[in-house]
Amino acid sequence: MPSRAEIEKVVLTGGAGYIGSHVAVALLEAGRDVLIVDNFCNSHPEAVVRIGELAPGNLELLERDLADPAHKDDIVKAVCDFGAQGAVHLAGLKAVGESVAEPARYYRNNLGATLTLIEALNAAAAKTIVFSSSATVYGERNKNPVTEAGATGPTNPYGRTKLFIEDILKDVAAANSAWRAVNLRYFNPVGAHASGRIGEDPGDIPNNLFPFIAQVAVGRRDKLRVFGDDYPTRDGTGVRDYIHVSDLAHGHLSALDWLAARQKGGAIDVNLGTGVGYSVLEAVAAFKRASNRDIPYEIAPRRTGDIAEIYADAGLAKKLFGWRAEKTLDDMCADHWRWQRMNPDGYRG
Ligand code: NAD
Ligand code: UFG
Repeated sequence: MPSRAEIEKVVLTGGAGYIGSHVAVALLEAGRDVLIVDNFCNSHPEAVVRIGELAPGNLELLERDLADPAHKDDIVKAVCDFGAQGAVHLAGLKAVGESVAEPARYYRNNLGATLTLIEALNAAAAKTIVFSSSATVYGERNKNPVTEAGATGPTNPYGRTKLFIEDILKDVAAANSAWRAVNLRYFNPVGAHASGRIGEDPGDIPNNLFPFIAQVAVGRRDKLRVFGDDYPTRDGTGVRDYIHVSDLAHGHLSALDWLAARQKGGAIDVNLGTGVGYSVLEAVAAFKRASNRDIPYEIAPRRTGDIAEIYADAGLAKKLFGWRAEKTLDDMCADHWRWQRMNPDGYRG
């Protein structure tokens, strides 16, 4: 029997996306009822079909734009009719470069979506929210491992939307003690569900390391460009805290259960990472082992805005939620590769 918690009916915004689809499976497997709200602006309806296959349960879908004022009344009504008790909020645009080029679109989408959700949760008397923030909110000068007390200072509009939303949730919780919020600061989510049925499906040229490596391994791209080999790290390439997306998904469930059991209101920031950093070349070597394919690469100039090294102090999530990441870099590569191999063209295949 799944353990029963207070929050059994969960609104999941962005549930068709990469991380959201894994959160949906984790919630459904834990016996929760899930209402996905997504407009598929960066995802595919097929993901929702596959969520239902992987984890049969009470799953509903509302296809609406959370940031469109014309959709607000529908969303508020659906959240109330569903009987929501809380939300996991992942809907948002996430491409750093695009956010620099189109800041107003990013502010409208990411902040607007959050404000609509807050209104809907208020209307449903479901004042509990787990929000997908990011390690990108941290400034560049923190010592590793970075704790939640580290200085913030995002360097692009995308990162600023994350910090603003964290602050909005803190203000909302300060104004009304019935509100309980956790801002989860994700490090670098990678990998895919072990079935190979759901995973990351970047429509365009991938910005991030793992989807790029995976497309090189499967033959969709010639070679990886390694952005800089002259950083002050053990092999000169950038070091990040890669975390398996299924571990990350379970972190949301743990955060929700912790909020449910919490007597007092308030908003808190919590890192979700492994606490271990790997370099680009170490990631390439691990993917090569997992895929048994060659991963040609060339050293290219540093990418603007990149930092040398960042990894999490993952202690607070362990202390509060009893959660920690369990999967290794080899697991992340094996699962990412299985997804890529089984779905070389993503959900469109
Ligand atoms: P994703 O693009 O795969 O998923 C986001 C989902 O939100 C998509 O399904 C998209 O269609 C939906 N969406 C966006 N705007 C919407 C709107 N206005 N109304 C309804 N639906 C909307 O991204 P992901 O990698 O799964 O990321 C999920 C969240 O986690 C995002 O908020 C992202 O900023 C955050 N995050 C991601 C990473 C990462 O590396 N993937 C790291 C840190 C934080
Ligand atoms: N890298 C390459 N070649 C590539 C892509 C990446 O060498 O083609 C390197 C980067 O320079 C960096 C490392 O691989 O050293 C990881 O890069 P990613 O783009 O995968 O990840 P980032 O840490 O730069 O940023 C990601 C998301 C952000 C998010 C942050 C923390 O892009 O939105 O993780 O969660 F905020």
